[in-house]
Amino acid sequence: MTTDLDLKTTLSTRRIVGLWRMITGYRAIYAGAFLCIGLAAVCQTVFYFLLRYFTDDVLGVEAMRGQLAWVAAGFIGLALAQGLFTFMGGRWATMTSENVIRRLRDYLYDHVQRLTFAYHDKTPTGDLIQRSTSDVETMRRFLGEESVGLGRILSLFVVNFVGLLTLNPRLALISIVVVPLIVAVSIYFFRMIGKRYEIFQEEEAKLSTTLQENLSGVRVVRAFARQDFERQKFEVTNRGRYDSGRKLLVLHAVYWPSTDIIVGIQLIIGYAVGATMAINGEITVGTFLAYMGMLTWIMWPIRNVGRLIVQMSMALVSFDRVAEIIRVDREPLDAGTHRPDGPPHGEIVFDDVRFAYAEEMAVLNGITFRAEPGQVIALVGPTGSGKTSLVNLLPRFYEYQGSIRLDGVELRDYPRRYLREQIGFVLQEPFLFSRTIKENIMYGVHREVTDEDVYRAAQAAAVHDVILSFPDGYDTVVGERGVTLSGGQKQRVTLARTLLKDPAILILDDATSSVDTETEAAIREALQELIPGRTTFIIAHRVQTVMSADLILVLEKGRIVQSGTHAELLEQEGIYRRIYELQSQIEDELQQDLAAAHAAAGSNGHYRTPERQSADTAALD
Ligand code: GTP
Ligand code: MG
Repeated sequence: MTTDLDLKTTLSTRRIVGLWRMITGYRAIYAGAFLCIGLAAVCQTVFYFLLRYFTDDVLGVEAMRGQLAWVAAGFIGLALAQGLFTFMGGRWATMTSENVIRRLRDYLYDHVQRLTFAYHDKTPTGDLIQRSTSDVETMRRFLGEESVGLGRILSLFVVNFVGLLTLNPRLALISIVVVPLIVAVSIYFFRMIGKRYEIFQEEEAKLSTTLQENLSGVRVVRAFARQDFERQKFEVTNRGRYDSGRKLLVLHAVYWPSTDIIVGIQLIIGYAVGATMAINGEITVGTFLAYMGMLTWIMWPIRNVGRLIVQMSMALVSFDRVAEIIRVDREPLDAGTHRPDGPPHGEIVFDDVRFAYAEEMAVLNGITFRAEPGQVIALVGPTGSGKTSLVNLLPRFYEYQGSIRLDGVELRDYPRRYLREQIGFVLQEPFLFSRTIKENIMYGVHREVTDEDVYRAAQAAAVHDVILSFPDGYDTVVGERGVTLSGGQKQRVTLARTLLKDPAILILDDATSSVDTETEAAIREALQELIPGRTTFIIAHRVQTVMSADLILVLEKGRIVQSGTHAELLEQEGIYRRIYELQSQIEDELQQDLAAAHAAAGSNGHYRTPERQSADTAALD
């Protein structure tokens, strides 16, 4: 059915209108469901009229003997019809809710993927997940269960009450005096339950967050021997959940029996009045029987009105929460006036660029430099100086002030999709999907690639041999239930992924930070071959990595404080030379230590010193 419904405009309106628009394509079926539910109620009432006819006019009347078969057939027919209508009503309502909600889920999934980085940065993932799962589920119950349930109660009430009125108006009115009371009590009570239930859910969310954090941080917990602390924290949360759960149970334990009593008293009074009238001959026995049946079908269901109304109003809150996400503008992928056919040459010019994640605090300020096509630009600087933020602007992950031109055209004029296709990014925090290594490497490559291409990329990233050493080689599944890769291995797989993409502009954000110096040298060599022809940005903490760059930019607190080639920068007094000297000194000391260790051990074995790497990194921090 229709899947091209524009849910954004659909949900950008008031709740009821929004829900009504949301069921576009299923309105006829949904209306049919309610019709069936109404018809089932009618069958119910007609059943009691037939009972009355049977008792008063057929039973014990000799002349009516021949009617017995018809009456029996009537009872069976009505029961069957009622069953059928109930079934069809439920089925159509379910069909509507399932399909409408499936459509909503698909839309949400796609939508969330297209929101801007700025939005994701400030929205907790857990919140997005909660809204896309449990709030959507609440909406499903609203459409498929609660509204149908309320429809059923209302139609039972209306039809049976009309039935009662035709039986005997006075009796009918006496019999339902408590209905307003019950409805009022029920709504009041379930409002209270609703509030308590929200608290309960919060407690439950806290509990699962605690559990989830504890599980994903299990190493940290153990390493710091904080199990007891964590256990106590969990106990407190668990106790909170228990308490609010118990309060809910107590409320329920009060409500149902007390309404049972009210309804019971009303029924007894009604039956007593009816029976007296029957004895006095004011109504027939058949009328009395029909009356008892209809009254029962009004009274018992009515106690649920409050529950359904309150649940439905809670579902409307869920509607708002979901609509809130859907109303957020997507990042336009294809908007842009300049669409070149082929890859760019790669000339990049920054002119007085300013950037801030949040309005007040500028993370980058007055950034100006020029990268010729095919040049290697290195960014160095202390942590938090803005290196990652600077390169994040190139694929337009964020909006900037000032001007950044690619081949002379402002970045804002390019469609984001084009930029992201042309730019290869090795992110600072490597991320692999729980798929095979090969799939991970081939992720995001649009052209046809052979296995050879994949191997070549892996070789350049110095990870080919590592992958072959896994039991399933390139088909090894990464992550849970698969092979867990080390930090350095992950980094190299993501590097292979980016190299395979063969982009015109390459960004390596600390791409070799968790790799030992020797492997890094191998990668650097391979990159040297790959880099010609593409503009490359390298962010690194080791001077060795950036020495051969065409232009080195030294960042500090979001500004370029020094720029030039390695040789030029060494001649200047400044932070670059200090870093270089410090790192060389550490390097020398390490070499001496190593030599001493070799001599002492009397071996020429291969030593890998863990401190070495952190020492390299520490020098810049
Ligand atoms: P290292 O990677 O540690 O070497 O640092 P960097 O030079 O890459 O720094 P980065 O560009 O990541 O951060 C610069 C500043 O921006 C820091 O002060 C961060 O706190 C801040 N920052 C980074 N990412 C975000 C973000 O997503 N939101 C906000 N509000 N601030 C951020
Ligand atoms: Mg960074």
